[in-house]
Amino acid sequence: MSRILITSALPYINGIKHLGNLAGSMLPADVYARFMRARGHEVLYICATDEHGTPAELAAAKAGQDVRTYCDEQHDIQRRAGEQFGLSYDWFGRSSSPQNRELTQAFCEALDKNGLIEERTDKMVYSIDDGRFLPDRYVEGTCPHCGYDKARGDQCDNCGRLLDPTDLINPYSAVSGSRNLEVRDTKHLYLLQTKVEGRLRDWIASHDNWPHLAKSIANKHLEEGLIDRGITRDLAWGVPVTRDGKPRPGFENKVFYVWFDAPVEYIGATREMFDAKGDPEGWKKWWRLDAGADDVTYVEFMGKDNVAFHTVSFPATILGSGEPWKMVDTLKAFNWLNWYGGKFSTSMNRGVFMDQALELLPADYWRWYLIANSPESSDSSFTWEQFQATINKDLADVLGNFVNRIVKFTESKFEAKVPEGGEAGPLEEKLHADLSTLIAEATQAFEDMEMRKAAQAIRRIWVLGNEYLQEAAPWTAFKTDTGRAAVIVRHGLNLVRLYASLAQPLIPSTAEKIAQSVGESLPMTWPSTDAKAELSRLPVGQGVAAAEVLFKKIEDEQVAEWTQRFGGSEA
Ligand code: MF3
Ligand code: ZN
Repeated sequence: MSRILITSALPYINGIKHLGNLAGSMLPADVYARFMRARGHEVLYICATDEHGTPAELAAAKAGQDVRTYCDEQHDIQRRAGEQFGLSYDWFGRSSSPQNRELTQAFCEALDKNGLIEERTDKMVYSIDDGRFLPDRYVEGTCPHCGYDKARGDQCDNCGRLLDPTDLINPYSAVSGSRNLEVRDTKHLYLLQTKVEGRLRDWIASHDNWPHLAKSIANKHLEEGLIDRGITRDLAWGVPVTRDGKPRPGFENKVFYVWFDAPVEYIGATREMFDAKGDPEGWKKWWRLDAGADDVTYVEFMGKDNVAFHTVSFPATILGSGEPWKMVDTLKAFNWLNWYGGKFSTSMNRGVFMDQALELLPADYWRWYLIANSPESSDSSFTWEQFQATINKDLADVLGNFVNRIVKFTESKFEAKVPEGGEAGPLEEKLHADLSTLIAEATQAFEDMEMRKAAQAIRRIWVLGNEYLQEAAPWTAFKTDTGRAAVIVRHGLNLVRLYASLAQPLIPSTAEKIAQSVGESLPMTWPSTDAKAELSRLPVGQGVAAAEVLFKKIEDEQVAEWTQRFGGSEA
């Protein structure tokens, strides 16, 4: 048994997340956490809302609320949506917590003591009409690298490059749209990443086990070369800048840049959790190498736009601190889930957000679709038609139908009990062999965080059961040879049990219903690759009872209605 620390990129506080956000970090992290728990490991799965920076301030202003109130409300909304989607966080924290403030300030002070922080006078974009500096997302304009005309001051959404607001061509204020801007001097703290470059390169080089996408993005950023980065901003909302625990002179009206404090909240949230448990030192055994964290395996999940921050900026902070922090072992990154080949867009009414999704269908429908079509090797697109086809085929026809058929048959012919029966025949032996291979495949795919592959293997296991039942035909056997029918039924019911255990990480609520239909309950341990053993786990005589319909098919009328409501190809 090992200890596994899992984090998913912290969702910005600015409103409930759409299915693309869910598919690219929180959901696969949850699936992985559930898989690892079923394998018997000790898992700590941490997430939080990312509450600072311009996204929060801009959204609060738009909502006409003060930032703190806005964040309180939105945090609750996101926590509830996460719960309803079955995201099994061990803690869902807040980057605005006192724990994170303290850790963030301590990181900066440690970097400062190591000569890695420098005060520099910067030229920053100032809006005369708005009467303020315009850091990061407060300014938009044309990307100097790719020409995209809605690049934000901190990053271009089109080519993914990190930007400085002054890089933008034809900039305008995101608050007012004003182009009446000028460049003014202002003092900021810089993290001297150039001085950590050697250590950072060695650290990245020592991780050739990272999945391909994360590794290639990390290397691309290294090739571009490291630059020193400003880590403070002219904003009111955020973590105040300190020196020796007191406000840093000249920085009284500034805060840390959101990307400086956000990843620290992985640690901060863990600390929030242990503080809440009354064990204020407990977080250290997950994060401090001098407190036992050296045997932790740490895995991060995130969208591809987050990789630079997790492979360069945050590691530079940690390495530069010179302190014994646990660093990430494996990074799993995702491409975009698009909406009919375009971007999800709130303002244009394109795409489904987490709360709306649950008004339409239970979480498991979405979870299955999003994992089975996970944007791993390339971007993928959500379409209502593909969603309907996936649900109706995989969940209703293949899985739901199998479970229902065999349990109902047991109810009507074997007094709703697992029957005693004779020896397995050649059909069963073939089933054992095929299943063993596929269980091994699914297990390996989950271990490797290959979500699509894992879902495929599990789907093939479901199909296998249907094929077995079709060929073995217990309803025919029953007429001439009840002993033979009993063997088949016993295998069928054990398949149902196996399906519940394999489905746990992906569709946890349904897995529970499936387990209950053969008299079991979750959590179940992950199956071994000895399929013969796995198919003889149910005790003879155990009662079974068909669940209500597991999955309802999605009708064409529903697709038409949802397309109109949420946008589709013609939107
Ligand atoms: N809020 C960021 C985003 O949605 C992710 C922050 S991840 C963290 O892109 F590491 F900084 F926490
Ligand atoms: Zn660009």
